[in-house]
Amino acid sequence: MLAKVLACAVVGLEGAIVEVEVDIAPGLPSFTIVGLPDTAVQEARERVRAAIRNCGCNFPMKRIVVNLAPADLKKAGPAYDLPIAVGILLSSEQISADLTQTILLGELSLAGGLRHTNGVLPMVALAHQEGFANVIVPESDAQEAGLIEGTKILPLASLAQLVSFFRGEIPAPEYKPDKVEEETPPPSSAVDLAYIKGQEHVKRTLEVAAAGGHNVIMMGPPGSGKTMLARALPSILPPLTIEEALEVTKIYSVSGLLPSNTPLLRERPFRSPHYTISNAGLVGGGHWPKPGEISLSHRGVLFLDELPEFGHSLLEVLRQPLEDRVVTISRAQGRVTFPSNFMLVGAMNPCPCGYFGDPFRRCTCSPALVSRYQRRISGPFLDRVDIFVEVPHVDYEKLADDRLGEKSEKVQARVAAARLIQRQRFEGSKLACNAEMTPTEVREFCRVEEAAQSLLKTAMKQLHFSARAFHRILKLARTIADLTHEDTIKAHHVAEAIQYRPRRLE
Ligand SMILES: Nc1ncnc2c1ncn2[C@@H]1O[C@H](COP(=O)(O)OP(=O)(O)OP(=O)(O)O)[C@@H](O)[C@H]1O
Ligand SMILES: [Mg+2]
Repeated sequence: MLAKVLACAVVGLEGAIVEVEVDIAPGLPSFTIVGLPDTAVQEARERVRAAIRNCGCNFPMKRIVVNLAPADLKKAGPAYDLPIAVGILLSSEQISADLTQTILLGELSLAGGLRHTNGVLPMVALAHQEGFANVIVPESDAQEAGLIEGTKILPLASLAQLVSFFRGEIPAPEYKPDKVEEETPPPSSAVDLAYIKGQEHVKRTLEVAAAGGHNVIMMGPPGSGKTMLARALPSILPPLTIEEALEVTKIYSVSGLLPSNTPLLRERPFRSPHYTISNAGLVGGGHWPKPGEISLSHRGVLFLDELPEFGHSLLEVLRQPLEDRVVTISRAQGRVTFPSNFMLVGAMNPCPCGYFGDPFRRCTCSPALVSRYQRRISGPFLDRVDIFVEVPHVDYEKLADDRLGEKSEKVQARVAAARLIQRQRFEGSKLACNAEMTPTEVREFCRVEEAAQSLLKTAMKQLHFSARAFHRILKLARTIADLTHEDTIKAHHVAEAIQYRPRRLE
């Protein structure tokens, strides 16, 4: 007899409905899976066989063929275990159920238990979008699945429980999603700005960057607090909106990085990969394309400490996603697009010894070495950076001062207010903050007063800024004005923005 069950595949971040057809025919016992399965799907045979036996049912000793349709879509991962097992039980008439409105997903253990499965959120989102009434998920993923309202979630602990439910021996398991709270406290793990002594101008810079989502590079001698300042950034970033949280959670769900007790990520991601990372690790890739660090920091911060050590070629691959805010990975079997709308924060020393330009210590590097070191960061890369700030050595007086600086909480309130202005400005569009504006929006929203215009003109002529730099200055000036709730961009806003433009030391 032939049975049909519905499952779901994840391609990139999107789900796709997969029909699992099971045919059991008389003949020599065999169990074949066709329809472009990967190794994990092939191994489902062993798990399904054991799980069916261990839940008190019979595994038919006949010729079993499982077809995963559409046949041209690659199927990966263990999420097909449950639909295959249910298909076999239906086909061998050990259970009967109408599953035309139900999607099943979950990995089976040999004992028949249902295990956590990656990518539940995008799969349930698709089920909802396609109008399916029910989704059967492993109990441990119920909270994640419950984030999608409007689809009935049936959380199950084991195949045995599912069989009892289909046989009418137990009532339908039900899950009621918890209400997601709007506000969340800032991440407790982040450093508070108040504990960082001095460096007031850098703190101001980070506030501007956080308010508009601008990229920052910090440069200074060793031990001046660059890494510490970058790590304080999450404490001043505004919380994620519900839509943003869902986007980020989808990426983590597909990557298998979603903590089991956190169905919805509410903190902006802060990723700081080591400089030995590979290209694929940074931008995404692999045989089955997986999101890289730039996608894992979507809507958050990608912190590249010791920036020049990442090397020329690694930094160059960042150029396209920095501009487009998405990354497309092409493979022979197709291509997938991952979002990568992140805020780049880089930290670097000015030279290999670290003291070039330091007023107190002599730099031991030759001018050629300094120049070679700084040239690892190319002009086009630097052009994509909005803010370049120097982090000088801190004096003893400042370090020994017991008074605390302004708390992150206060800065975050100002940042959140500026973000609110931006959200209202971009209502109805896909933009979330000033850094994301395209030239069209820059023309519409970055009107500057006359005095500011002449300042901009002089700066452009004398400092030879590129067209991209011109737009970046305007976007930055927009954010600086938003921080004080001003509508028009004034000359001092533009002056501050120009002062942040990246420049080379040589
Ligand atoms: N402004 C500061 N206020 C308080 N402590 C500081 C400050 N700057 C540095 N420190 C102390 O120095 C330590 C080292 O700072 P950090 O790692 O941020 O330096 P860095 O600039 O990243 O240096 P490197 O260039 O070597 O990476 C911090 O952990 C902290 O204890
Ligand atoms: Mg450091």
